[in-house]
Amino acid sequence: MDYLEIEGGHPLSGEVTISGAKNAALPIIAAALLSDKEVKLKNLPNVVDIRTLLKLLSMLGAKVDHNDTEATIDCSTITSTKAVYEIVAQMRASILVLGPLLSRFKHCSVSLPGGCAIGQRPIDLHIKAVETLEAEVTLNEGYVVAEAKNGLQANKIIFDKITVGGTENAVMAAAMANGVTEIVNAAKEPEVVQLCQMLDMGGAKIEGIGTSSLKIHGTNGVPLHYKEAIEVIPDRIEAGTYLCVGAITNSEITLLNVNTEHIQTSIEKLESMGCTFDYTDTTITIHPTKELKGVTIVTTEYPGFPTDMQAQFMAVATLAQEESLVEERLFENRFMHVSELNRLGADIWLKGNIAAIRPVKELHAAEVMATDLRASSALVIASLAATGTTKIRRIYHLDRGYDRLEEKLSKLGAKISRKND
Ligand code: UD1
Repeated sequence: MDYLEIEGGHPLSGEVTISGAKNAALPIIAAALLSDKEVKLKNLPNVVDIRTLLKLLSMLGAKVDHNDTEATIDCSTITSTKAVYEIVAQMRASILVLGPLLSRFKHCSVSLPGGCAIGQRPIDLHIKAVETLEAEVTLNEGYVVAEAKNGLQANKIIFDKITVGGTENAVMAAAMANGVTEIVNAAKEPEVVQLCQMLDMGGAKIEGIGTSSLKIHGTNGVPLHYKEAIEVIPDRIEAGTYLCVGAITNSEITLLNVNTEHIQTSIEKLESMGCTFDYTDTTITIHPTKELKGVTIVTTEYPGFPTDMQAQFMAVATLAQEESLVEERLFENRFMHVSELNRLGADIWLKGNIAAIRPVKELHAAEVMATDLRASSALVIASLAATGTTKIRRIYHLDRGYDRLEEKLSKLGAKISRKND
């Protein structure tokens, strides 16, 4: 199995180009199902999750032409509306095909995602949203079977909890429904915004984009037509991760192709830790930081501090001069990186959903194990600052979401290599 070997303690410098956002690209790919014309996508990240969803669309009968950062998807040839366990079990976000399949084809069955390393992650809100649009939903042999014989009917969907994927499924379901659907307490993440802009451009007019209150004018069964190519927004989590790399290694690193507005909370937290930056709308340079201060982080929905940056900040905080506190509010069990960071010499104490990170003088190499996508990047960040050579196992988690990680880090001067045993 592949593992990463990282020799820590080397100063880094240079430029890194941030890839397209995986979490924006996934709903965009799912939204291709709402069209019977070719959809062109640009700036896709070259990561496993994208290939998995494209494979699912191919299995449904779509013609997919994928080449590194670009894809053309033609969903005029769909022959099946069944998202099989084999794919959904690999990637929970496959549930995003529920809304568009149901909206366009009036029926679908999607395997239940199954367990997830960062907590239960139920899909009850996705199901409730399509039921509100008058779909009949049953559970049958591990599959969510949904049907809307006369097409989905517009209604008011009220989310009692903010959900990114649930909002995305709801807007896609509403896109070809009959009438105007209102969504109350919608997620406002940049990935949701880009999906709404895409649907709007495709013919399902949407009011309130970027707010928690959306109004989707359904096309009454008419497939959408995305006239322009869709360029996926820069990955705010990848960008934040490289800023953490700069902060912990005391390096000057410039990020290209970022949307600095999307990473304001990460910038603000690093500033509070003593980091300094120069930035434009699309680039940001982090300067070397001699001494890192402690930080207090509470994860919450956008525009608050993202749960997907929690593990990376915890890695940086291990070498701060003061104690730091992290409270995880979105997912239970999203602290599996703690024991692995402690193996690298960190001193992190955990109680429930709160972690206290006590400062240590140095981190030292060890053999560690990646447990989920963002936990893996926290281990990479810590290893880059640790003395000695760290081995990180189970890096298939990293491959799901970080585009060309070793290549990008090597270009910055890191001693990192992928090995196999
Ligand atoms: C998305 C992101 C993930 C990020 C998360 C929160 C993608 C592919 N993934 O995941 O990287 O960490 O947003 O920013 O975009 N919930 C329910 N019932 C549901 C759905 C969600 O209770 O039906 C709960 C979840 O368990 C969690 C909270 O709502 O506690 C937020 O989850 P949600 O926003 O839906 O996350 P995802 O869309 O799965």
